[in-house]
Amino acid sequence: MSDPTAPLDLGAFPPAFTWGTATSAYQIEGAVAEDGRGPSIWDTFSHTPGAVDNGDHGDTACDHYHRWPTDIALMKELGTDAYRLSVAWPRIVPGGDGPVNAAGLDFYDRLVDALLDAGITPNVTLYHWDLPQALQDRAEAHRGGWTERATAEHFARYASLVAERLGDRVTQWATLNEPLCSAWIGHLEGRMAPGYTDLTAAVRASYHLLLGHGLAVRALRSAVPGAQIGLVTNHSTVEPASSRPEDVAAAARADGHTNRWWLDPVYGRGFPTDMRELYGIDLPEREGDADLIAAPLDWHGLNYYFPVTVADDPTGPVPYAREVRLPDVPRTGMDWQVDAGGLEAFLLRLTEEYGVRRLYVTENGSAFPDTVGPDGVVADPDRARYLEQHLAACARALRKGAPLAGYYAWSLLDNFEWAYGYDKRFGLVHVDYATQQRTVKASGRRYADVIRTHRSRAR
Ligand code: FCB
Repeated sequence: MSDPTAPLDLGAFPPAFTWGTATSAYQIEGAVAEDGRGPSIWDTFSHTPGAVDNGDHGDTACDHYHRWPTDIALMKELGTDAYRLSVAWPRIVPGGDGPVNAAGLDFYDRLVDALLDAGITPNVTLYHWDLPQALQDRAEAHRGGWTERATAEHFARYASLVAERLGDRVTQWATLNEPLCSAWIGHLEGRMAPGYTDLTAAVRASYHLLLGHGLAVRALRSAVPGAQIGLVTNHSTVEPASSRPEDVAAAARADGHTNRWWLDPVYGRGFPTDMRELYGIDLPEREGDADLIAAPLDWHGLNYYFPVTVADDPTGPVPYAREVRLPDVPRTGMDWQVDAGGLEAFLLRLTEEYGVRRLYVTENGSAFPDTVGPDGVVADPDRARYLEQHLAACARALRKGAPLAGYYAWSLLDNFEWAYGYDKRFGLVHVDYATQQRTVKASGRRYADVIRTHRSRAR
């Protein structure tokens, strides 16, 4: 185990290391009915009674749609040189396919120009879960949305539209954010949009998401010569709760469900046989799909938050592995275990097992209940410690050979944390939702120090 109190080794970071923050459209933009945006599955889900804590929704969120100049100024204040944002599909093609909404493209056009003017490189994710509701409503072979093959094709067309408009200035592109959450949490566990609990729908969605990724890579390559294209996936290291063979086997299944199902097909190994058997659902495969899904990438984005420990659970849901809550370990406000060693391990796994040649940490961060003190200061030592420990893990992975090119902290701002609503605050910048006042937290200042120190040493 690495020593979590060891000082941060900034010498391990290459001079050109990218220091960024990340957000996503539905979590910050608000303005859900403005300038021709159509509804997405998250508008529907968040307005479904009981779906989101406190009945929260993204109607206004951080009002970034109107306050983006302030937010870009905050990125500058932190000293970051990159920003990972997502484009809202329902702003560009409100009906999912069909007519294009020029005002939607104009919004991102202005945003990209302003970022570049500020010296901040945009890294654009095309899908961060806000599927146009119209596509969810179109049940053809199955239950609409990603359970349908046509959705993957509509996604590729939307990717082309965005790329044609922004590709003269944006070089960094990601297709999907965390397809695991879309498929497993959205279609199997029902805790995210569209809120299904249906294994067949979930497996079909997982397949069409990865197919959509492959089709979008092809679309981006042809629209933007020289584009640097990646996929963003979330992972956890998985440990068995004991050395009992049943628990060890459960950990292998959980690893298949969380990690291998998403990485093996993208890196040319096909969908893992053990998991196909476990799910027992025929994949809607067609000839040529496997090669599309395995289209060569320029980089891989890892979103890492926590490790998991599991025990055998033969009567529980797929993958028959129950998460075991370890006692006496540090946890965040999400009740997620803090273990930066898992980040180091996963960066090395992507390097060694999957042969990834360029890596980014595209999300990493922690929620804690913050308050603005009477002096106007947000003191958040737990978040600052989490940040430092995870940056130290990046440094160790770099020393051991991981081709890590950058780190994007989740998140620039407190924002709409999906089914948890606004109570869970992940920002380096505090948002007072009543006034939309932004206040840089102490952890944000700490991040700015790290960046400044790295730059002065790298010079
Ligand atoms: C990830 C999501 C991101 C955010 C963080 C906390 O799963 O990609 O939008 O909600 O978790």
